[in-house]
Amino acid sequence: MDQQLSNRFLRLAVAFALIGMVLGYWMGSSRDFTASPVHAHINLLGWVSMALYGLFYRILPQAARGRLPQVHFWTALIGLLIFMPALTAELIGGPAWASFAHIGLIAGPTLTLLSMAVFALIVFRATGPRAATA
Ligand code: HEM
Repeated sequence: MDQQLSNRFLRLAVAFALIGMVLGYWMGSSRDFTASPVHAHINLLGWVSMALYGLFYRILPQAARGRLPQVHFWTALIGLLIFMPALTAELIGGPAWASFAHIGLIAGPTLTLLSMAVFALIVFRATGPRAATA
């Protein structure tokens, strides 16, 4: 039960790793690097961050209890799912996609930042003096 959140983050992490690496492979083989920032963010926010979240909840399963970790999961996932298409639209979409890109580049990163703020709270709560004596 306590490992469900960790499992979800780890599965997402490897899915984003595959997407990010396929994009990197495509960029290298086509020698078109326009989407480099998308590749970098999918790999770092999708693969690396999600894997770290998953491993954290694996090491401290008690930190996965309650509603806050669920908020953490959904803001991290939805944030990235808005952020990446918006960044792609900004880089290669042209004027037709400008409004979508603009709104998405506010909404996506806001959720992504919120997810990290929630995670910071969870980490402080799980590693503070009260947690150590519990
Ligand atoms: C199969 C695996 C991968 C391939 C084929 C690949 C390929 C590439 C290519 C072709 C570029 C563009 C280089 C350029 O602009 O000159 C790039 C940039 C980059 N990659 Fe990867 N990559 C892979 C995995 C990763 C991973 C796992 C990460 C991070 C965890 C990563 C992070 C980055 C970053 C930060 C950049 C620079 C982006 C920028 O300057 O905007 N890559 N990669």
